[in-house]
Amino acid sequence: MQLGNRDDERITVVGLQGSGKSTWTHAYIRAHLAAGHKVLVFDPMKEYGKIAGATVYQPKASGGDALRREFETMLYKLVILPYKRNRTQPYRLLVCEEASRYLMHGKPLPDNIGWINDTMRHMHISLVCIARRFVQLNVDLPELSHRLIIYRQSGVNDMRRLADISEGLDDAVRSLEKYHYVEVDSERRYEIRPPVPPVS
Ligand SMILES: Nc1ncnc2c1ncn2[C@@H]1O[C@H](COP(=O)(O)OP(=O)(O)OP(=O)(O)O)[C@@H](O)[C@H]1O
Ligand SMILES: [Mg+2]
Repeated sequence: MQLGNRDDERITVVGLQGSGKSTWTHAYIRAHLAAGHKVLVFDPMKEYGKIAGATVYQPKASGGDALRREFETMLYKLVILPYKRNRTQPYRLLVCEEASRYLMHGKPLPDNIGWINDTMRHMHISLVCIARRFVQLNVDLPELSHRLIIYRQSGVNDMRRLADISEGLDDAVRSLEKYHYVEVDSERRYEIRPPVPPVS
């Protein structure tokens, strides 16, 4: 996988359970690691144990306000504080797995992710947020994303939101074969892409 040409890339990855989101994200992480970048993964489901070279933060809480607080604390300690002290921070990529549990629809973005979002261009950090369903994710995230990676979705409301982004995007997602996905660019043009092979 190729990295994009900006160092503050925001990506939203959505797809039903088992559709291929983490596999795509692992390939993106490997591309960053291969470029010598440090990677930080917030991993509530504890499925990122084996990525050599990445910092994996596995919170104690699995949901609710406690999880939001742990996410905020991690961002403050590992990303924001080093940046405030030195105008630099160690990570070039922040991955938020299961983001709909703490960056959920209907609640404002937590302060620290909002701060990072506003400062990303100066921080040279990219952000990947992953969720099962498009509508469960805070609306600001896909809106702010340079790329959307969309695996199988089936909810009526998800389909409506996709159709609002780009005409025919809902039909493209409906037509997806196993492990295929639709990639939407910043102009909201989209293309169906072949599966990303998992690495064992
Ligand atoms: N291109 C592919 N070819 C074969 N198997 C694949 C492919 N992509 C993913 N898989 C397999 O499918 C399973 C689910 O993939 P993955 O973990 O990426 O899904 P996910 O969308 O992250 O699921 P979840 O919502 O449970 O986190 C894994 O066992 C993975 O190895
Ligand atoms: Mg996954």
